[in-house]
Formats: sequence, C-alpha cells, structure tokens
Amino acid sequence: MRFTTSAFLASAIGALQVASAPSGGLVRRASPTVYFCGDSTMAKNGGGDGDTDGWGNYIGNYLTATTVNKAIGGRSARSYWNEGRFQEVVDLVVSGDIVVIEFGHNDGGSPESNDNARSDCPGTGTETCISDSTGETVYTFVYYVIQASNLLLAKGATVVLSSQTPNNQWETGTYGGSAPRFVGYQKTAADALGDSVTFVDHFQAVSNMYLKLGSDAVNALYPNDHTHTSPEGATLAAQAFVQAISENMNGTTSLVSYVTTPVTTVY
Ligand SMILES: *[C@@H]1O[C@H](CO)[C@@H](O)[C@H](O)[C@H]1NC(C)=O
Repeated sequence: MRFTTSAFLASAIGALQVASAPSGGLVRRASPTVYFCGDSTMAKNGGGDGDTDGWGNYIGNYLTATTVNKAIGGRSARSYWNEGRFQEVVDLVVSGDIVVIEFGHNDGGSPESNDNARSDCPGTGTETCISDSTGETVYTFVYYVIQASNLLLAKGATVVLSSQTPNNQWETGTYGGSAPRFVGYQKTAADALGDSVTFVDHFQAVSNMYLKLGSDAVNALYPNDHTHTSPEGATLAAQAFVQAISENMNGTTSLVSYVTTPVTTVY
C-alpha cells in the first residue's frame, strides 16, 4: 500500500528521490533501537537556555529498547529533511528498528512571505510553494514526513508518527489551546502510508495530562516561555507518550512491546 501512495505523491514531483524496496540481506538486531526525530521539545537541553529539556531525553527510562535522541532544536519537518538529518537516521537504522517522528512547533508560517527556511507549504498533499528568500521549491509537512518515512520503511524500520506537544495550555489561567494543524497532518501522513506506520496523538495525551494537572502545576513546568518545559515537564511529556502507546490511544504501534511496566499513569 505504501508504495502505491508514495508513487502517487512522487508522480507530481520528481525532485525528491523515493526509496526503492530493500534488496534483502538486511541485518536485524535482537532488540531494536528506537530513534527519535524532532525539535527542541524533544531535544537534549530543550530550548538551550539551561532551564529546559526535551522529552526525548527521558523516554529511555520507560522503554526496554535502546533509545537514540536525534532531535535538534529549531527544526521543522522541512529543515530536518533539507539538512539531511532524516537521511542520517535512514543510514543508521537496520531492519526491525523503530523511528519516532514528531514535528510541528517550527513548521508554521509561510515560505512565500519572509521564508525562514522552516515553514512548510500549506496543504496536505503534493502542493508546492516557492521560497521568497531562496527560490527553493517547498513541499508540505505531510510530503516531507511521507518522504522520510518511505526511506525508513525501505530499510525495514517501522515508523511511529507522533503529533507535536502542546504549548502551555494554562498560560492565560484558563485551560485552552486546541490542536495546531500539524497534529492532524501527522495523522494524514500516517493514514497515507499504510500498516508499517502508526500514529500516536502525543498532543492529546499531554493535553489530557495538563487538564488533570491544572493551572498552577502546568505553569510551573514552563520556566521561560510557553513552548519549552523544565526537565520535570519533559519527564511528564515522556510519560504521557508512554501511556498513550501502552493504551494504544490511536492504534497499536510497534513500540508497545517495549514499554516498561508498570506504566506511570499521568492522565
Ligand atoms: C487519538 O485518539 C484519542 C483517543 O481516542 C482521540 O481523542 C484523538 O482525537 C485521536 N487523535 C486524532 C488526531 O485522531
């Protein structure tokens, strides 16, 4: 199924190479390595300000498999692709490994208006835009995620597409903050890719947790701004992710058999 989808998406644009099926003879590790691709909310040292950290640094405490945090602050699906960072992970994975992809915080804005090299082209398919700063052809969030996933699948990895974490939903003192469009876009990408790719709504899991925690507790997790959390907040975001995985929140992912028990319940 995925190659049908990929062929469909690739037909409009020939510039990005679509992976071909593996030729066999791939190495399979006894226990998988799980790679995490994302932005500062997942990355080591979070916002890079000394006070914040990313949840990818804590997820290893809740999984029996080896975890490798490849998240980098400031990246979007587009810039992670353009910088060759997805390709770096593609080069590392072997058959049976798992890759979690979570972007969205840096994907907004327009590539056609003061392009910052991170904004994706609007839309959920093969739409393209031209960057007003570089002339680069820019693709949609869904397109970048599908391209990266196809390269990983061709190496025999499975892919878990995770929706971005929310910003501080108690910033105003009243609970709010509905899902940004990139949450739905991750699901769109997962649905397009077939069985080896699953979706987990990390946004929803953290939102449920924040509702339960309440205003004072959640505001205390954001020392500097409404995006980057303290190490405690990053720990909680990791726990919410694990609870969502363990409860098959949006379907059964390849990660579920590597969740350590008992699962910490945070929502
Ligand atoms: C994921 O599942 C949860 C629980 O059923 C649901 O609330 C949420 O809307 C789902 N996410 C998406 C994007 O469909």
